[in-house]
Amino acid sequence: MIALGCDHGGFELKQEIIQYLEEKEIPYKDFGCDSTKSVDYPIYARKVGRAIQNGECEKGILICGTGIGISIAANKMKGIRAALCTDCFSAEATRQHNDANVLALGGRVVGTGLALKIVDTFLNTEFSHDERHERRIRLIESEE
Ligand code: RB5
Repeated sequence: MIALGCDHGGFELKQEIIQYLEEKEIPYKDFGCDSTKSVDYPIYARKVGRAIQNGECEKGILICGTGIGISIAANKMKGIRAALCTDCFSAEATRQHNDANVLALGGRVVGTGLALKIVDTFLNTEFSHDERHERRIRLIESEE
């Protein structure tokens, strides 16, 4: 299950991503927002982060105007590794190396065609499970 969230700057791209997920028959849960009316992106980052923390969803996609604010907010949550991607190489690498569980996108930065390829790459790339990458993730997750 993929958790989706956005602010007003990401609403239009979220609708395109929903269409893509429906075409591919990939289950998703939409945590809003629901229009281009101005809202506060940390609220939606938290909704998606919580859905991953409690096991309701396995991955998430968060979109704001730049993807920056919403990824900063998500990355404050324990166990959330949100990667802001503007290219497919990064989307592939962050799954293989960082086991990123949230993809962040900038709705005002990437066009729809590129964004959907980034989503496709992110959702279809597995974590490598290499020892060095697991060690680095443990270091990220450790309290010190
Ligand atoms: C909203 O205007 C904008 O600040 C937001 O979408 C995002 O880009 C923040 O990082």
